[in-house]
Amino acid sequence: MVALPAVVIEAAGRRDHDRIAQLTVDVYVGGGLASSGYAAELADVAGRARQAELLVARDATGRVVGSVAFVPGGAFGEVLESADEAGFRMLAVDPDAQGQGIGAALVQECLRRASAAGKRRVVISTGTRMTAAHRLYERLGFTRLPERDWTPVPGIDLLVYARDL
Ligand SMILES: CC(C)(COP(=O)(O)OP(=O)(O)OC[C@H]1O[C@@H](n2cnc3c(N)ncnc32)[C@H](O)[C@@H]1OP(=O)(O)O)[C@@H](O)C(=O)NCCC(=O)NCCS
Repeated sequence: MVALPAVVIEAAGRRDHDRIAQLTVDVYVGGGLASSGYAAELADVAGRARQAELLVARDATGRVVGSVAFVPGGAFGEVLESADEAGFRMLAVDPDAQGQGIGAALVQECLRRASAAGKRRVVISTGTRMTAAHRLYERLGFTRLPERDWTPVPGIDLLVYARDL
């Protein structure tokens, strides 16, 4: 039996920003899931900390092995259409720590925060190549919302998933 690592999900601090930037750019751009043109936005952790609740997964040594930006509302949510919707963006887990439930734990914390904030639905968009994320979302009860699919820049088509709370 493989024991789950002792990972805690908690709010990120300023000291985590550089690591979150590196992790997110490595996973998205290095992993071939997003173009290099998106790297500067992925690396702008201080910017998203002002518009979202930045969460990290920290292993037993204190190292950040995953992160996500929970978005309770506002323009940073991009696909959110009403005050009763929340979202999350820039979910990433270190490749060395994937496949242990850390991504699921980060998403579940976003769902918990959305419920606690009185939201009725969590709505997110995802790249067509992010197939591990699609499986994760479907396992956690998200379904496709194709009428909200969108194209932020020509050639980049994003799929929308939603989960009622
Ligand atoms: C999507 C992502 C965050 C998932 O992170 P993760 O920590 O690997 O997620 P989980 O461990 O919860 O689930 C991943 C797999 O491990 C499996 N798993 C989870 N816990 C496990 C355990 N204890 N033992 C064995 N397998 C396990 C899951 O069933 C899942 O299997 P699948 O890939 O066949 O569907 C990660 O792959 C990632 O960073 N991807 C690139 C960035 C990205 O696409 N982000 C989403 C943007 S919208």
